[in-house]
Parts: sequence; structure tokens; C-alpha cells
Amino acid sequence: MNYQNMRKLLFFFLLLLSAASLVNAQEINSPDKNLTLTFGLKENGIPTYQLTYKHKDVIKSSKLGIETKDVPSMLEGFTVTKTEQSSADESWEPVLGELKTIRNHYNELLVTLTQKSLKDRFIRIRFRVFNDGLGFRYEFPEQDNLNYFIIKEERTQFALAGDHKAFWLPGDFDTQEYSTVTSKLSEVRAKMKDAVTANSSQTTFSPTGLQTPLMMKSDNGLYINIHEAALVDYSCLSLNLDDKNMILESVLTPDAIGDKGYLQAPSKSPWRTIIVSDKAADILASKLVLNLNEPTKYKDVSWIKPIKYVGVWWEMITGKSTWAYSDLPSVQLGVTDYSKVKPNGKHAANTAHVKEYIDFAAKNGLDAVLVEGWNEGWEDWFGKTKDYVFDFVTPYPDFDVQELHRYAAAKGIKMMMHHETSGSVRNYERHLDTAYQFMVANGYNSVKSGYVGNIIPRGEHHYGQFMVDHYLYALTEAAKYKIMVNAHEALRPTGLNRTYPNLIGNEAARGTEYEAFGGNNVDHTTILPFTRLIGGPMDYTPGIFQTKISAYNPENTSFVHSTLVHQMALYVTLYSPLQMAGDLPETYNKFMDAFQFIKDVAVDWDDTNILEAEPGDYITIARKAKNKNEWYIGAITDENPRIANISFDYLPKGKTYEATIYADGKDASYDKNPQSYAIRKIKVTSKSKLKQALASGGGAAISVKEL
Ligand code: NOJ
Ligand code: CA
Repeated sequence: MNYQNMRKLLFFFLLLLSAASLVNAQEINSPDKNLTLTFGLKENGIPTYQLTYKHKDVIKSSKLGIETKDVPSMLEGFTVTKTEQSSADESWEPVLGELKTIRNHYNELLVTLTQKSLKDRFIRIRFRVFNDGLGFRYEFPEQDNLNYFIIKEERTQFALAGDHKAFWLPGDFDTQEYSTVTSKLSEVRAKMKDAVTANSSQTTFSPTGLQTPLMMKSDNGLYINIHEAALVDYSCLSLNLDDKNMILESVLTPDAIGDKGYLQAPSKSPWRTIIVSDKAADILASKLVLNLNEPTKYKDVSWIKPIKYVGVWWEMITGKSTWAYSDLPSVQLGVTDYSKVKPNGKHAANTAHVKEYIDFAAKNGLDAVLVEGWNEGWEDWFGKTKDYVFDFVTPYPDFDVQELHRYAAAKGIKMMMHHETSGSVRNYERHLDTAYQFMVANGYNSVKSGYVGNIIPRGEHHYGQFMVDHYLYALTEAAKYKIMVNAHEALRPTGLNRTYPNLIGNEAARGTEYEAFGGNNVDHTTILPFTRLIGGPMDYTPGIFQTKISAYNPENTSFVHSTLVHQMALYVTLYSPLQMAGDLPETYNKFMDAFQFIKDVAVDWDDTNILEAEPGDYITIARKAKNKNEWYIGAITDENPRIANISFDYLPKGKTYEATIYADGKDASYDKNPQSYAIRKIKVTSKSKLKQALASGGGAAISVKEL
């Protein structure tokens, strides 16, 4: 036998072997055939799946299953008793979004798995293969032998095909407010200690624990993103890395007594998602997470509107002003008589000052004004686990709710409520309905809520099932009052804004506030769209033009790690239907020519084109404003200056447009000269191409309007 024949024989032999080791193997492809999902059972009836993209391994054979506490586990002893295949190709319109219509196109495999030794108890695993990735979930149908059960741990594996470059956050059950670490997966363990920086509530769980969305890049050029979709009534997913075998395994957030979930059949897990492509831009363009969520449950969505806002906020973050009215070391709601308390003279949320923000918003065509620190109780809760901190309806003596309602309404400005819960969720739920009624009565149609500090009931985590249920309760109750919600320190999103579009924003990452707490990495905003934003929009609060924080508070030496123009570009590169102009009116008034872009830029879109992208390096995006012939382009770079290649081929043909280019000044850089910029106007058509220089930590912002 010659060598060629021997290889053929060996290949045939291996093929037989692999088929034999996977019982009942089932295969489905993505509609474009680039992805192949294989499901099968290993020895002992253990369910497994694997995924390839253009014949390259994305996920090697990986186990699936659920370990339970009170009933026998759903890990092995399965036989495949039914398989069903189906397809869908439909389009839908998001209430607010990056595109006018979204295509939902997939092939589905639904496998029924029966444990014969457990009186035929069965579960189902549903796989959906899209052109941009895979989603799968566990389903627990109603049956005689399965009713209530407690999850000890979900045992879903993602066996990776190599030691990928990863953009990761330490796994934590309470916070995502970490700087992203970029490293090989094999370096996670060594880099973990430095990665875990202090936070007001944090619970790490493993020296190789990671959060999702986890973004990775393989040596053979694949971009892979792992996350979850439609997280409802279940615990939030984290991952633990087996760094010998490069296997990621699910870790669910425990409750106060260590359990990971309470389920009752019929029920289902959230979708586990793997977005994959050989182009980074495809990861940003993916709508897989939204497609795996249910259509909106609301009949009337006419009250859900995009919001561009300013707020009495940055002056407290920088330390210029305070949330608290006084310097009392201890206060008690209903006991402390604030009319007798000496004000500290730095309380920003006072009627006269809030009116200045309302005037600024009205003059510049913004929608709303947020006011933090308006209600009694701010003096003494931070860093403690105090139960009854706020009642969400009692203003400080210098904040006149009715007068501000009247003043804002007369100027066509909406007020944005602030509910800092201080993590005392029990107390928030006590007051929630009254608080929402108070909002309606006083002209507030949106609320920024916050969950700073450890959760009360004590021992619960920000990402456990208890809190997952709370966030959704606060959101659906708000909908009854036509209130939009922007929750900070809450769960990182999983596309639920499709189903509940009054979820107008979320924080759940290191936001701009950290620029005043020591700074964000220069590449931070080139990573966020590949990680945190895969789940949904972020209230990043960009637009800081005074990049030296000491200008507001001489004691604060932090500075913004980007140029001023980079701050403008973020309105396009970080998608959100809720965008803040984060800086103070007094500063914007000094930069009115640049502020024009923030005034103009849309927050809701008909179309989005990802022109260039590489996680950790650069992003250039062009978007078409909703129902307008206007386009906005944002380009950002990390610490490396670069030339952005900006095409205009998405513009309608045969017409000439005026592009206003807000560019970094020639001498600009984030650390030496961040405020240097230049504005110019050029004519463009669909055939134009622009090479635009971006400074170190810089950007470009462009508005394109019909002539
Ligand atoms: C943290 C939030 O992210 C920030 O925006 C807010 O101002 C403070 N908490 C106070 O609630
Ligand atoms: Ca925060």
C-alpha cells in the first residue's frame, strides 16, 4: 500500500471512530452554510455539541447539562428520543435601534433527551444556527416527573480550539466595573490579581473566572464572542476557564444560601450565545442576541422615545459639588428634621441651579434633565449596608419639585428621576409604586436607578436570580406608568430591550465616571462595543470636554483618557437610544462650535454601517438618522494615532452632501493636548473616500446633511 492509500484508509478509520463515539449525531448548518452545529451523545449518554465556522473549529466537542440539588441531575444517562428541525426567515422592527428592520434568519434543531432510568424524565435542548453564530438553551417541559427543582450548577462547556487572545473582566457576582484585560487565555491566572480592582460591592469566585460577553480572537483569524440572551428568572452566567484544556464552563450566580436557581417546569434557561466571524465588523453588526429575545410584550410603545439629556451629575462625580445637602455624619429619614439642618453649601440639586440646566437643555434642543441628590438621605449610606435610606419621594428643602415641574414643562423639557437604591432592594420594592406615582404626578417619564453597594436582603448578589427578577419587576411596573428605565450597577443586558423597550439604558461596565476616579484605559471604548454592548445599549455618559478634572475640583488629579473629539465620536460608536451630554453647561458654553455635533447627532437610527473595526484598536461607524436624510460618522482609536478610512457608499447615489468634520487638531493627543480640534466642511457623494487622521486616544466625528 502506498502512502496516499494509507492516509485515505486512516482517514476512513478515523471517520468511523468519530461517528461511533457520538451516538445519534445530528448536524445543522447556518442558512449560508458557513456554520455547522453537531449535536450528539457521548458515552454514558452525555449530551455534547460542537461548532465550526468555514470548517474551522469554534467550539470543540463540549458537554451540556444541569446539575440539580434536590432531584437527580440532568447530566447523563440520556437517550435522544426525538429530533425536530425547522427554519425561520422573518423581519421585525425594533422600537428603538441601530436599524429600521432586523432580519431573523436561522435553522433550528430541537432535541428531546430522555433519562429512561428516571421514569422517562425528559428535557429539550434547542439550537438555532444563524449566519453570525449559534444560540442554544435548555427547556424543561411540564411532565409527571419534573416539577420544582433547584439548580446546583449549570454544566455547559465551551471547549475552545486554542489559546485565544481574550478581552476579559474578572468573573464577579456583583460588578462589571473593571478595566478590560487583553491577554492570552493562558495568561488569565497570572493577571487576575491586578485585574481585580476595588469596588463598593464585589464577589470574585475563581482565579480563572471570567464574565460575559467574552470577546476572543483566535490565531487563525476568528472573532468569537460568548454571552447569553433573554436572561429571565434565572441566574446570570459567568465562565470559569480550565486553562490546561482551554475549556470554559458555566458558573451561575448563587443566592444567599448558595443555590443557583429555583425553577418550576415548564421553564427554560436563557440562550447561550456564540457569535463568530472572520471579520471583527460582523461581531458589531450581529443582531443575534436581539433575535433570540421575544418580540415586545407591550401593546402601546408610543411613549417610548430616545433621550438626549444633561444632568446635575458630573459636578458630583468630580467632587465639585455633593449629592448630600449637609455634612451630618448620620441621618434618618422621618427623624432628621432637614429644615433645621445646616446646609453644606455644595449641594448641587437646588432649584436655582437645576433651572440653569433646564435653560441649557431648552436652548440646545436636548430632551431631558437628570437631577441626582434631590431627595433626603444621601449623607451617610455609602459603604454601609443601611436598609431604610431613601423613600424616593421626599425632596431636600432646597429642591422645589412643583416649581421645577412647572419650569421644565414650560420650556418643553422632561425631568429625569434618580432613584439610588443604595443596594437596598427590599426598601426600593416597598416604595416602588408610590415612587412611580410621584414621578407621573411631577412630570418625570424616565428614571435612572442605581444599585451601589451590597444588596439587601443581605447575601444576595447583583446578578443572582433574585435580582434578575427584581430588575424585570422594576421595569415592567415602570411600563404601567409609561416610565423608561436606565439602571446602573444592574445586570449586564441580554437583549431584553427588544421585549421590554422601556429598558432605555444600562450601565454595567466602567462608565465615564471612572475618568474622574483615576481614568479608563485609552483603548476602553474600542473594546466596549465588542463586550458589554453585545447585550444592549450602555449609558456611558460621554461628552466630557473639560478633560482635566482638577478644573472642577483642584484635589482631583484624574484626567479623561481621550481627546475632546474622541468624546464626540462616542455618540456614534457606542450605540444607545439614551445619550447624556455628560459635562457641565458652563464648559459646553465655551466650546459651542464643537457642541454643535452633540446637539445634532441622532440617538435612534434607520441604518448602521460598521466601516472598520478591531477590538482594542479602532472602530469607525456610519449611521443614518431615523426618518432623516442625515448621517453621522464616528471614528475612534486607542493610544496609537491612525488614519481612518471613511467611505460614503451608503449615501444615496447622485446627490451631493455637506460633511462637517470635527477632527483632532494636528498637535492633539489624549495625554498632552486633548482639547485641540479643528472643524471643516467638505462636499461628499456616495463615491467619496476620506482618509482622516486620528490622534493618540483621538477620534473624528462627522455629520453629513443634504445640501
Ligand atoms: C453610580 C452611578 O453609576 C453614577 O452615575 C451615580 O451618579 C452614582 N452611582 C450615585 O447614584
Ligand atoms: Ca457605576
